[in-house]
Amino acid sequence: MESMGKLKRTHYLNQLTIADKGREVVLMGWVLRRRDHGGVIFIDLRDRYGITQVVFNPEVNPEVHAKAHGLRSEWVIAVRGTVSPRPEGMTNEKLVTGEIEVMVDELKILNQSRTPPFPLDEDVEVSENLRLKYRYLDLRKPEMAANLIMRHKACQAARSFLNDRSFLEIETPVLTRSTPEGARDYLVPSRVNPGRFYALPQSPQLFKQLLMVAGMDRYYQIVKCFRDEDLRADRQPEFTQIDMEMSFVDEEDMFETGEGLMRSLFAATRGIDIKTPFARMTYDEAMARYGTDRPDTRFGLELVDLTGTVKDCGFKVFRDVADKGGMIKSINARGCAGFSRKDLDVLTEYVGNFGAKGLAWVKVKEGGEWQSPIAKFFTDEERAAMAEKLGAEPGDLLFFVADRPQVVHAALAELRLELGRRLGMMKEDEFNLVWITGFPLLEYDHEEKRHTAVHHPFTAPREEDMDLLESDPGRVRSRAYDLVMNGIEIGGGSIRIHRKDMQDRVFRVLGIGEEEAREKFSFLLEALELGAPPHGGMAFGLDRLMMLLCGRDTIRDVIAFPKTQKASCPMTEAPSSVSRRQLTELSLRPDWDLNP
Ligand code: AMO
Ligand code: AMP
Repeated sequence: MESMGKLKRTHYLNQLTIADKGREVVLMGWVLRRRDHGGVIFIDLRDRYGITQVVFNPEVNPEVHAKAHGLRSEWVIAVRGTVSPRPEGMTNEKLVTGEIEVMVDELKILNQSRTPPFPLDEDVEVSENLRLKYRYLDLRKPEMAANLIMRHKACQAARSFLNDRSFLEIETPVLTRSTPEGARDYLVPSRVNPGRFYALPQSPQLFKQLLMVAGMDRYYQIVKCFRDEDLRADRQPEFTQIDMEMSFVDEEDMFETGEGLMRSLFAATRGIDIKTPFARMTYDEAMARYGTDRPDTRFGLELVDLTGTVKDCGFKVFRDVADKGGMIKSINARGCAGFSRKDLDVLTEYVGNFGAKGLAWVKVKEGGEWQSPIAKFFTDEERAAMAEKLGAEPGDLLFFVADRPQVVHAALAELRLELGRRLGMMKEDEFNLVWITGFPLLEYDHEEKRHTAVHHPFTAPREEDMDLLESDPGRVRSRAYDLVMNGIEIGGGSIRIHRKDMQDRVFRVLGIGEEEAREKFSFLLEALELGAPPHGGMAFGLDRLMMLLCGRDTIRDVIAFPKTQKASCPMTEAPSSVSRRQLTELSLRPDWDLNP
């Protein structure tokens, strides 16, 4: 191995063009590919920026050529040479540097590499575990590097937008108390306070509110949040928020700010000029039309409520459900009457995963008659009324689910997405953004037998619903809002409670007693009594945003060092066991085997 010596890199590997012909250059990077062509050796040299072809000719420089013979994939080299046009017919239009090559006079091998555990220059399927174990190799792939570069641009665009609007970037503690965002906390034992624990923040929620009380007026932070919850493709135990809070604002100010931020992110990353203001939809409307509060509005296939139409019909399943206060909803899959029996069985099983006890279907034939196991249970009038509500035409396939509203909505929302996927209705480069508003403030937790906050306990109720807070809490709407893009919740926030009497009332309805409130949030409650201004805020999930902007299926692809579905890191092997001594220092006495 050699040192760089006096060689100084003159260019990145995406820079040289025909205009540099004849120039002496020094390039450094990784060997991507090596090809031997009748004695002449061609190397594709790669760095973060691109690829440049370097050439070793035995006739021009036999010693250097002989040395190049030993080069292997992922070795790190430096070359000095002269830029030369590629011969006729050898140019590569796909590369910026595709019209030139560098004829090498000097080669230094800066480092060797073992054969990598997976090839970096081919589109071969590699298990994600292996990719994560060697993440630094995975990130050498241009498409993975591109995701991180895009993420960097998004962060810079966000900072620049918010700086221009007088937001201050202020850091909040990572070792702190639990903040209730609905997930489990990660705990950190305190050595100097035996038996006491910090919680890693699920979000900077309380601190950003306190910064408003401190008069900072506008705060933001691109910040890590920690939530110990079950992982999915769009969830990580630690993830990043673009977090913000503003004083003396209402919902309209928040929407305008959020829209401006999204505009600048789209422009900086994809060069896309997205249309504002975004669509808005109430929670009730979203549930009615899509069965979910995060609708993918890129396509139709909306849910249609047929409860009133079929409540007295001859199909016992539907009638019984209607009698018990349930609902019957339907989706018209236009033009899908050609689905096979197998397709229908697969879809029935699919909705079963979301609680549906069955999936009734109707194929609409030429002339309008129904082919369906349940057709016989309906009168002509009922069939006509259903067809009209669904806008059914020959060639259509109608699906029905009857159950409790929660089950109907969960099952049909998922069926709708599955149909959208099968029918290619989810265009990757279409971005549909919608604000969801009018969420219920509280939801009833049947297990705990009490109300819990839908957003978090600091979200303000709508003023006009305040009278219902004690008498009919389930009907109170909150001043929360979510931003949904292509069916994924990319952000959310609310106007907050800024008066102590109101916060006390909400805590009471949540079953958080005075003592518990004082114990957990006395600092906030006190602050509300010391001149808290009206304020509100929101946070965007940077990882989810980047996943969508980069056109990926999982947020792991846009995070440099993500964790697996089991919240572990195959590279560092975190979480790891620790020594008894460390635990003793922390006053922890485990009853499990430390070194199994
Ligand atoms: P919320 O809990 O809705 O709000 O979080 C805001 C956004 O963060 C993203 N997100 C996640 N991304 C990846 N992995 C996760 N485990 C994860 N959890 C959430 C989502 C979500 O929309 N303090 C409030 C915001 C506020 O009220 O200002 C909060 O944290 O995109
Ligand atoms: P059955 O009478 O049980 O054979 O059901 C007839 C059809 O109705 C089948 O296609 C079932 O999948 C469907 N079905 C049964 N229960 C429900 C339900 N709760 N909602 C929608 N369809 C159902």
